[in-house]
Amino acid sequence: MEYVKWQRPRYMPCFPLGDRQSRITECEKHIQLSRRAAAEGAVLLKNDGQLLPFAKGTKVAVFGKAQIDYVKGGGGSGNTVVSYVRNIYQGLKEKTKLVQVFDPLSFYYQSYVDEQYRLGGKNGMLEEPVIPADLLEQAAAFTDTAVITICRYSTETEDRRNDGTDTYYYLSDTEHQMVEAVTAAFAKVVVLLNVGAMIDTTWFAQNSKISGAVMLWQGGMEGGLAAADLLVGDAAPSGRLVDSCAVSFEDYPSSEGFHESDDYVKYTEDIFVGYRYFETVPGMQQRVVYPFGYGLSYTSFALTDADVYHNASRIYVTFTITNTGERAGRQVVQLYYGAPCGRLSKPARQLCGFAKTKLLTPGESEVLTIDFAIRDMACFDDTGVVARSCFVMEAGSYRFYLGENVRDAMPLAYTYELAETMVTEQLHSYCAPEKLDKRMTADGTYEPVECKEIVRAQFPCNYRFAEPPVREKPYTMLAVARGKIELDTFIAQLSDEELCHLVSGQPGFGISSTSGMGHLLQYEIPLFMTADGPAGLRSRTSSKIPATAFPVATALACTWDLQLMDEIGKAGALEVKENNICMWLTPALNIHRSPLCGRNFEYFSEDPFLTGKMAAAKVKGIQSQGIVACPKHFAANNKETNRRYCDSILSERALREIYLKGFEICVKEAHPKLIMTAYNPINGIHASENAELLNGILRQEWGFEGAVTSDWVNEKDHVKEIKAGNDIKMPRGEQQKLLAALKDGTLQREEIAVCTKRLLEMFLWIE
Ligand code: BGC
Repeated sequence: MEYVKWQRPRYMPCFPLGDRQSRITECEKHIQLSRRAAAEGAVLLKNDGQLLPFAKGTKVAVFGKAQIDYVKGGGGSGNTVVSYVRNIYQGLKEKTKLVQVFDPLSFYYQSYVDEQYRLGGKNGMLEEPVIPADLLEQAAAFTDTAVITICRYSTETEDRRNDGTDTYYYLSDTEHQMVEAVTAAFAKVVVLLNVGAMIDTTWFAQNSKISGAVMLWQGGMEGGLAAADLLVGDAAPSGRLVDSCAVSFEDYPSSEGFHESDDYVKYTEDIFVGYRYFETVPGMQQRVVYPFGYGLSYTSFALTDADVYHNASRIYVTFTITNTGERAGRQVVQLYYGAPCGRLSKPARQLCGFAKTKLLTPGESEVLTIDFAIRDMACFDDTGVVARSCFVMEAGSYRFYLGENVRDAMPLAYTYELAETMVTEQLHSYCAPEKLDKRMTADGTYEPVECKEIVRAQFPCNYRFAEPPVREKPYTMLAVARGKIELDTFIAQLSDEELCHLVSGQPGFGISSTSGMGHLLQYEIPLFMTADGPAGLRSRTSSKIPATAFPVATALACTWDLQLMDEIGKAGALEVKENNICMWLTPALNIHRSPLCGRNFEYFSEDPFLTGKMAAAKVKGIQSQGIVACPKHFAANNKETNRRYCDSILSERALREIYLKGFEICVKEAHPKLIMTAYNPINGIHASENAELLNGILRQEWGFEGAVTSDWVNEKDHVKEIKAGNDIKMPRGEQQKLLAALKDGTLQREEIAVCTKRLLEMFLWIE
C-alpha cells in the first residue's frame, strides 16, 4: 500500500496511539507521569525537627480552603481541560494507613468551597473563611499537628500590583488570621503552597511556630495526590528553587519601575536579574529568604572527589554524590562560574551546568560529570569598552562553585586562567535601545546609557523564483513530498492570492481552539492545526475532550530533570497527535524578571541557562514524535498589562545575556520548527515587525531554519511582519492588505514567497 502523507491532518482519523488501540489522551500512564513530576518539582523549604515526612499514624488537621480548591495550573491559553482534579484533602485520604485526617474540619472547607462556587466563585480566587471556634477546638483536641494550605491563581493579561492592593504575593488579612489561629493552637505546623509563582515566604521562614513548608507550585491534575505522597514519604522531595525568594517584593530591583507606565518598562537592573542581583550587589544577600537553587531533602548527601579538567573547548567537573542519610532521595548539584571583573560588570555567580542523581538509597553513591563550553562564559559588550557587539571573555581567573544552591556552592580548587582577553563571537548591534537612560552595574549603582536615534538594519530578500512548471494541471504538495518536484518549483506556480493565503492563519477544526495553517486543498495542503500548551494539550472547552494537565512550567523547572522534561514533551506531543493536531504552542520561556508578571507560572525561571536547557529538552521530546514545537514568546515578554503595546526597553547586553539566551540555547540544541513572536515591542519595534530580531539575530546569527508565527490577534501590520521575517499571522492574516501592498510595490512577491517556503518546509517535516 502506498504511504499516505499527512494522514492525520488530511483525514482526521483520531487513531488511538496507546497500547492495544487504547486512547493515550489523559491515559493513566500520562496521569502518573504528571503526578510524579508534581512530586519531583515540589520544593521542601523548611523541615525543622524533621517533622516531615509524617510518622506513620500521625493525626493531622488540615486548614485552608486550598485543601479543597486545589489550583492545577494557571488560566488563559496555559489552561488545560481535564476530566478531574485531585485536591490535597483527597490526597491525604488516599493515605489512611499512614495518616488520619480530622474530617469535620475538611468537610467545613468542602461545604464552604461548594457554596462559593454555587455563588459564582472561581477556582483559586475564593476568600479564606474564618475558622469556626468550635472546630478549631475539636481539631486541637484531635491532634497537635496542623497543615495550612494556601493557593493562588493567575492568568495571562493580568499582572500583580505593587501598590498595596496585591493579594497574590502577600497573604490576605484572612489568611494571616488563619495562620495566627493555627499556630496558636497547634505545636506542629506545616505549610503547603499551591501557587504558580513566587510569593512571600517570610511569614513561615521567620516563624518558629511553623516547622515545615513545601512549595507545591501548581502541580497539574493530580497535584493534590503528589502533595500527599510527599507528606507521608511515599515520594522524596528533590525539587530545587528556580527563583530567588526575597524578603519583600520591593527587593527585586525590577519591581520598582514595573508599573511606572503602561506603555513601557525600563529594564534598568540590566543583567542583574534574580540571583545575579542578590549574590552580586553588596548587602543584597541579606534580602534573600531562600536562594536560587535551594531545596531540602528527607535525607542528606555528601559531595566528594570533585575533579576538574578541560580541553581546548570544554570544562568537565566530575564528583561523587553519596546518600549519607536514612531515606532514599535525589540530589541536584549545581555548577556556577564567576568571571573576572574587568571592564564589563559581571555577576558574582552564574549557573553553567547542573546534574541530578538517580534515586539513591541510603549509603549509595553516584559519580556525575557536568561539562560546558568555555566560550559560554563570555559576556556581550554593547558599548565597545572591549569589543563592540561581540561576546568577549576578559582576561583573568574564572572561578567555579559547586554545590546545592547558588549561596552554598563551594569554591573549587580549580580556576580557568585566561591570559588575554578574547572575542568569542563577533555579532551585530541589533535591537539597541533608544530610550534607556541608565543601567545597573555590579555595585548596585547605575551608569548612564548613551542613547541616540538608530537606523535599523535592513535584510534584503534574496529569494529568486524558480521557473514555473510547464504543465496543464498544477503540481500538488504531495509531488514535492514524494520528491517529484522541488519546493521552489511548486512555489513558482502559486498565485499572489495563494501566497497570501499561506502566510495567513486558517480556521480551526475539531478540538483546536487556536486555528490552523495551510489549508490549500486544491494543492493537497491540508489544514495543519495548532493547540496551546504549556501545561498540557489545551482542547476547545466545548469539545469536552480532556487531556492530561501536567504541572506548570515553573514546577517542572524545579525538577532540574531534563530526562523528565523530555518525557513530558513526548507524552504531551502524543496527546496532541492523537487529536490530529500538528503544532503544539509550547514551551513558553520568558524570564521571571519580576514576581509581578501574571504569566510567570507558564515560564521556567529567573535564570536563562536553566530556562534554555529545560525548553530544549521539552522541544526534543515533542519533536521526536513528529509534532512541531513552538517556543514562545520571542522575546522580552515579561509583563501582561497592556501587553500588546508595552515597550520593553533594555540594553543589548541584557537582551542577549538574559532574555534571548534561553531561546538561543533552545534553538541551537533542539532546532524547533516554529517560534512565536511576542506581542510587545522591544526598544520601540514590535517583536513580530522586528527584522533585526528575526532576520538578524534569530536567522542570520543563530542559524534558525524554522518558521516564525505571530502571537494571536497581535494587532500588528501584516506587511511589516512579512518584511521582518515573521512568516505567518495568526489566527488570521490581512490578505487584502498584502495584496494591495503587492500591487503598489511596497511588498515584493519574493518577500512573501520566502515566508511561504519556510512554512511549507515545516509542513513537509510533519508526518
Ligand atoms: C498567548 C499565546 C497563545 C495564543 C493562542 C495568546 O494570547 O499569548 O501564548 O499561544 O494566545 O491561544
